[in-house]
Amino acid sequence: MNQETLPSHLDQSPEVRARFERIRNREVILEVRGLGKRYRTPQGDTEALKGIDFSVRRREFVCVIGPSGCGKSTLIRILAGLDQHTDGEALLDGKPIKGPGQDRGMVFQGYSLFPWLTVKKNVMFGPQMNGRGRDEAEHDAMMWLDLVGLEKFADAYPHQLSGGMRQRVAIARALVNQPRILLMDEPFGALDAQTRARMQTHLIDIWKNIDITVLFITHDLDEAIYLADRILVLKAHPGEVQEVIEVPVPRPRTPGQFNSPEFRATKARLEELIHPAAEHAPEDEEDDKVKPHLIRLTDINDNVE
Ligand SMILES: Nc1ncnc2c1ncn2[C@@H]1O[C@H](COP(=O)(O)OP(=O)(O)OP(=O)(O)O)[C@@H](O)[C@H]1O
Ligand SMILES: [Mg+2]
Repeated sequence: MNQETLPSHLDQSPEVRARFERIRNREVILEVRGLGKRYRTPQGDTEALKGIDFSVRRREFVCVIGPSGCGKSTLIRILAGLDQHTDGEALLDGKPIKGPGQDRGMVFQGYSLFPWLTVKKNVMFGPQMNGRGRDEAEHDAMMWLDLVGLEKFADAYPHQLSGGMRQRVAIARALVNQPRILLMDEPFGALDAQTRARMQTHLIDIWKNIDITVLFITHDLDEAIYLADRILVLKAHPGEVQEVIEVPVPRPRTPGQFNSPEFRATKARLEELIHPAAEHAPEDEEDDKVKPHLIRLTDINDNVE
């Protein structure tokens, strides 16, 4: 099927439309209004984020996508309270975000586990820091390790686990404090394709079973469509919201849907936004600023191509 025969990504089946209606009736968990971030450096100012407006409702799954350098990590760091914004505001349950807090769980791409602690102690660390007793913290940790399917590895050390298992521990560690929202910055970016696909399905299963709202950053268009209710598309320099897409792919999601007309229509729209046709493409990818200088390091005259 070629692109002309695809439906519009705006077409929604009655079930999908009804689901978005239900989501719109839920309370707002996260509200971002006119958020801006300007970095001052000796080389000049960078407007990493400008006038970002969006809100996320309870138990909604929102993905953020955009070219490298468009401010995705800056946005999530501000929401995590790890960085300060320079304009606007971000509210969690109506309260301005001013610093880190237990009401937000974070999962990054790099494995942020403590290598000297066992899996169980990694998960117990947060509750214990927050004043839970040892036994209660252990009980909580085992419950969340069970949920991510790692209870048998409670006494293993992070280096004994695969990449996917380590990210499961990171998810358990983020959820053990029972946050209102899970903030994920390319959490599966370093995993191989098969493990990544398994982790996506696993994350959806977790999300279905607990009261959690998810904001998930990714570079991967398929991942965003597979996971999200809505996709926030950012553009770079300055980092602004370009479009918000309601994903028309019905739930429950299955890998079999990757080839469905709704899925491909959404992907075609994302591709239009993220990779505009070459002749119009603005030089906004970070990598475009760095022009590699290629030196030939062979004197064999037979070209490989
Ligand atoms: N600490 C900092 N100081 C100065 N500039 C920064 C800082 N952190 C980020 N920037 C700039 O802000 C912009 C947004 O960066 P950010 O890391 O948020 O982008 P990103 O969308 O997460 O990129 P990627 O897809 O590569 O992870 C970039 O132009 C970057 O150079
Ligand atoms: Mg980033």
